[in-house]
Amino acid sequence: PEPPPTTAVPQAGAGTLTLLHRIGTTDPTDLDDYRANGGYTALRRAFALGPAAVIREVTDSGLLGRGGAAFPTGRKWQATASQPDHPHYLVCNADESEPGTFKDRVLMEGDPYALVEAMTIAGYATGAHRGYLYLRGEYPRALHRMEHAVAQTRARGLLGDDILGQGYAFDIEIRRGAGAYICGEETALFNSIEGYRGEPRSKPPFPVEKGLFGKPTVENNVETLVNVLPILTMGAPAYAAIGTERSTGPKLFCVSGSVARPGVYELPFGATLGELLALAGVRDNLRAVLLGGAAGGFVRPDELDVPLTFEGTREAGTTLGSGVVIAFDDTVPLPRLLLRIAEFFRDESCGQCVPCRVGTVRQEEALHRIVDRTGADAATDITLLREVGRAMRDASICGLGQTAWNAVESAIDRLGAYE
Ligand code: NAI
Ligand code: SF4
Repeated sequence: PEPPPTTAVPQAGAGTLTLLHRIGTTDPTDLDDYRANGGYTALRRAFALGPAAVIREVTDSGLLGRGGAAFPTGRKWQATASQPDHPHYLVCNADESEPGTFKDRVLMEGDPYALVEAMTIAGYATGAHRGYLYLRGEYPRALHRMEHAVAQTRARGLLGDDILGQGYAFDIEIRRGAGAYICGEETALFNSIEGYRGEPRSKPPFPVEKGLFGKPTVENNVETLVNVLPILTMGAPAYAAIGTERSTGPKLFCVSGSVARPGVYELPFGATLGELLALAGVRDNLRAVLLGGAAGGFVRPDELDVPLTFEGTREAGTTLGSGVVIAFDDTVPLPRLLLRIAEFFRDESCGQCVPCRVGTVRQEEALHRIVDRTGADAATDITLLREVGRAMRDASICGLGQTAWNAVESAIDRLGAYE
């Protein structure tokens, strides 16, 4: 039986939606309904264009990765497609684990065929015949929907040896994560699929050259892939006209915390944080907003005019990450919240490298001392936190250790969390 619905309902204005337009309006278990609502138009255009021109469209659209790192998707596809080593693989990273992120879940639960179609296009463009969907273990409903969509499209010749009679072979295998945050890191994810411990590999070599099973691999987030559909249906120039010059297209934002209407919102890049929070119904006693999740940073209530773009948040000294927006009102005890974030990183560190394995423990200990008032004084522990944070940022192998101090640092510097 299908698990009970637990997903947040997308709440942006229905008429203006690009990524969410089918969610709640089409039946996510009915391929015919998907096709009647624009499904498989993009794949047909991709076949008409050919792989090289599809990559050109994606490059010209300016699409940046939506998993959090904002790497140019067209560049990644081109780099994979041009590798002489074969086979090439496609991996869709659906291990959405950043605290406060739930957009990919909404896409997979509400529009699963879109992801199947988008993965097929990505595979076609990059010369892959096999795609892996690595799905977060805690998303049973998304799993159920994606399994159904893959089986139905396979039965109807939209996956398999000769898709739409075009002579292109592609199939999708779904793998479930088992609850480890680190398995969302792309190379730990490859290890997990290969049956090894979910530990990140050193980069370079980048996955485009040596990825899954040591072969050229294009690895994209769910939302990134779903964006390829409007790029192909509306064309790169029309897509690039949405948003700003450097952050093109629509973006999904996951709004939670002290707001009246939490959920997934779709807005063009460039709207301000204040505009987004107004849609979600922010409370008057706002104390801080966490952007980018546990690996991100805080902004103050007087900074809500920050534009929601990759460049705008960077210039404001914070990060957009995967689109996490968590509002905290003044009833939330910030020191305890920071302690919770530190516990999370200590718990999720894979332990492979010393700066992160030891640093996340030292960070949590120092924050505990401050909260419990068991240390000499808060200033001494803050000095220690800065030293440990710098070592983690500079010397950790992967993004987990490199970002484990971000939120604590911004809470100290921007919010005066311990004053
Ligand atoms: P990264 O910047 O190392 O890489 C981003 C992507 O670009 C990767 O796929 C990488 O292989 C590729 N890449 C980078 N340089 C390249 C080059 N020269 N040639 C070819 N490909 C290249 O970032 P990373 O570690 O993959 O991701 C970090 C981000 O992940 C953070 O910004 C964080 O916000 C986000 N994140 C998202 C989560 C979620 O649930 N969505 C969970 C945890 C982190
Ligand atoms: Fe593992 Fe942390 Fe090192 Fe990443 S930084 S490899 S999570 S110990």
